[in-house]
Amino acid sequence: MDKSEEIKEQQLYIEKIYKINKDKNLKYNILTMGCQLNENDSEKLCGMLEKMGYTQTNNVKEADIAIFNTCCVRENAEDKLFGKLGELKKIKEEKGIIIAIGGCMMQEKHITDKIKESYPFVDILFGTHTLHKFPEDLYKVLEDKKKLEDIIDIDGEIYEGIPIKRDSNIKASVTIMNGCNNFCSYCIVPYVRGRERSRQPKSIINEIKELASQGYKEITLLGQNVNSYLKVEREKNIFFEEYKGINSFATLLKAINQIDGIERIRFISPHPKDFTDDVIEAIAECDKICKLVHLPLQAGNTRVLKEMNRKYTKEQYLNLVEKMKNKIPNLTLSTDIIVGFPGETDLEFEDTLDVVKKVNFEQVYMFIYSRRIGTPGDRMENQISEEQKHKRFNKLKDLVEKQIEKNNKKYINTIQKVLVEGESKNNKELLTGRTDSNKVVIFKGDKNLIGKMINLKIISEHMWYLKGEI
Ligand code: 5AD
Ligand code: SF4
Repeated sequence: MDKSEEIKEQQLYIEKIYKINKDKNLKYNILTMGCQLNENDSEKLCGMLEKMGYTQTNNVKEADIAIFNTCCVRENAEDKLFGKLGELKKIKEEKGIIIAIGGCMMQEKHITDKIKESYPFVDILFGTHTLHKFPEDLYKVLEDKKKLEDIIDIDGEIYEGIPIKRDSNIKASVTIMNGCNNFCSYCIVPYVRGRERSRQPKSIINEIKELASQGYKEITLLGQNVNSYLKVEREKNIFFEEYKGINSFATLLKAINQIDGIERIRFISPHPKDFTDDVIEAIAECDKICKLVHLPLQAGNTRVLKEMNRKYTKEQYLNLVEKMKNKIPNLTLSTDIIVGFPGETDLEFEDTLDVVKKVNFEQVYMFIYSRRIGTPGDRMENQISEEQKHKRFNKLKDLVEKQIEKNNKKYINTIQKVLVEGESKNNKELLTGRTDSNKVVIFKGDKNLIGKMINLKIISEHMWYLKGEI
């Protein structure tokens, strides 16, 4: 069966469940952990569930089906899953709720084994490669009243046409490629998301045109290695249909920049080693592409980077940043950093601090190294003590906070273009939006500004947001 037929088959399951559920006013609750790719998958789960006649509730006690979309990039995710399962067990005992656990963690055998052994009340376990089959899995559980496991370990495929219910009607995420071929030695992603594969250019452009026609203003392109879009396809001569001259990430960016109605384009996460000149030129040239680039550093020391299998040196990273700063006016940068990778010495950690000082990032996402079963990093013998890792983390955090404070001051009295996203969560009287550099700005304004791009004068700064006025 080809993939479009598989999706049609799932559509039939959606209709069957819709008939079963009709007039029952059934609800679903979904909890999502992890990155924006996972959030995008959850939007697809929501889309399918709504078509099956369920409505969303934020209160799991009200739900008839509870779904947990898991992440396994760092350890605390596991604690959260098992804590959540304890909570769901009680609800299941009180009422016959259906429990479905999916996402990256389900691609790890030691986790599914533990669930089956210690949490046998879970109804559905589904992996990252079987998300599109959720309607069929749910139908079987509803009909046969049996537990079901639908996890496969394959390279992964791209499925088009899965229903989707998006979290926002202003900003939308669009997955353009999936999987990872890089095998950084700390990272579990290549094992749970399979090999890199890109969507066809035409499908992406059509999806974004559709979003523009629905009034969406900002698009975030997603991929575990977003800038290797179509790279494997080109290198290995895997068929893809060129559409509007799109045959690379740079040409994709340029084509999206032409779509009327879309005002901002972002993308995460690129890999520094694949950050080619044509992409730098596209960012500089295209007015809609935000000039904030997320460029994961991970570590500043060349030996540690080699152990991490990142395929660039400290100097190459800094040279890339220099080149980008020279070519892209108003460029700002954000990054991901891991502290305490096995074998990292205090002196080597200083290189990380040095790069942070030199680049002056707008935002730094900081992580304490976490051992992931099955990765080369986990097998390394020179693990760093928790105490040492925390010490380094705090040192980095202090530096980053000082830099953010200093950077924020530069915004005062400037005029910033802000896309207004909605009411502020903490104060319904105020509105919130974001600058090109992804800074949150809070300001007083009329609700009809929501969804519009406006100019704001920045009047004060706080660590995690700016205050502005019209
Ligand atoms: N430990 C800590 N941080 C990790 N990341 C990925 N794997 C690990 C790990 N094992 C971080 C990286 C990546 C981000 C999404 O999560 O910085 O860029
Ligand atoms: Fe993980 Fe490295 Fe792939 Fe990013 S590039 S998903 S950090 S293996």
